[in-house]
Amino acid sequence: MRIYDIIKKKRDGSTLTSDEINFFINGYTNGDIPDYQASAMLMAIYLKGLSDEETVFLTSAMTNSGDTIDLSSINGVTVDKHSTGGVGDKTTLIVAPVLASLGCKVAKMSGRGLGHTGGTIDKLESIDGFKVELPFDDFIKQVNDIGLCIVGQSGDLAPADKKLYALRDVTATVDNTALIASSIMSKKLASGSQNIVLDVKCGSGAFMKTPQDAKKLARTMVDIGNSSGKKTTALITNMDVPLGNSIGNSLEIIEAIKVLKNEGDCDDLYEICVMLASYMYSSCTSKQVEECKLEVKEVLKNGLAFEKFKQMIKSQGGNTEVIENPELFIKSKISYEIISEKDGYISSMDSEKIGIASVILGAGREKKDNPIDYSAGIVLNYKIGSFVKKGDVLATFYTSSQSKIDNSKSIFLSSYEFSDTLPIKKTLIYEVVK
Ligand code: URA
Repeated sequence: MRIYDIIKKKRDGSTLTSDEINFFINGYTNGDIPDYQASAMLMAIYLKGLSDEETVFLTSAMTNSGDTIDLSSINGVTVDKHSTGGVGDKTTLIVAPVLASLGCKVAKMSGRGLGHTGGTIDKLESIDGFKVELPFDDFIKQVNDIGLCIVGQSGDLAPADKKLYALRDVTATVDNTALIASSIMSKKLASGSQNIVLDVKCGSGAFMKTPQDAKKLARTMVDIGNSSGKKTTALITNMDVPLGNSIGNSLEIIEAIKVLKNEGDCDDLYEICVMLASYMYSSCTSKQVEECKLEVKEVLKNGLAFEKFKQMIKSQGGNTEVIENPELFIKSKISYEIISEKDGYISSMDSEKIGIASVILGAGREKKDNPIDYSAGIVLNYKIGSFVKKGDVLATFYTSSQSKIDNSKSIFLSSYEFSDTLPIKKTLIYEVVK
């Protein structure tokens, strides 16, 4: 078999066999196939697509490219979640402790930020001392002891995805259903949880811009999960607006703490977290979702979920003083108010641009190995549907470098549109796919 022939076959629109897909994945993972041929292969897949069967072959080849994690020594029902990537998406930080406080086990491997989207591991690293790498036995012990542990993806988990994702990021081949589905599901299948809930983001800040594309992605991933023996559910959720009001690592931890303490004004974030947690809890217990919602709201209200979060931070070496008192998080050197230049209702916000503006301020990486400025980011004062007057403060920027503000500000302001009439409110949760 030659990779040249496989690239040509896909370029010409033919269907690949399982052996051909395995040849590509194994060869790329072990270094026999160079980046330039893998890039050509990705672009051929991007342009010609993969059938459902080819997508299953690709997912399984990627799952088997490294270790699969055995969670059988965990006492209890395991559940995992994965978001397809959004702006201001700090839901894992909230739903994982909620589930643990309801008695489910969350043994979670999370990712770092990608492009304009943030990642849970970067957010957790903004907490002084927090360890995102643990020996496997300690990971399992922590889940057995307190119900949850969140670590970074180990190097041996779906290594094909690790290499391919980095390549997709720089070859304009990210936003493709088969490639996203195989990337996410290979990691989820290799991570071992019995139940999986997927948060498929849809809208201006998501890789899938329309409900139709998001639904196709959700259906593909749910079918792969269910046919591999994992109970899989997907919620298609709105990403036309950043989730919550804060974007940036420590800023998002502070906002997550507010929700865990049942305080604050982040209605959309609270609602999505309650829904995700309720579907996760329902899949572990077979209780009805409506009943689960009441229990989820209760552990947010009575402080149990917040206590679990604190236990996790302490157990992984993090400073719990900042969790008790978020005022103690290191503040960025510069704060800068963004003033509205117009009167009117905010009718749309391009979340991708807002994510990029936040990356420019230092909250994400512009290049693969760039360091993160954990206190950098944006706090929004108004979102779609709000009426603002010229001169109102739309948002505050946080950064350590004055020189980053102008570029970020012009992208940020170009993300807003205003109208004279109140825009129609879009739903937060479009659909549930089982
Ligand atoms: N998240 C992933 O893990 N992979 C993708 O391809 C997109 C989002």
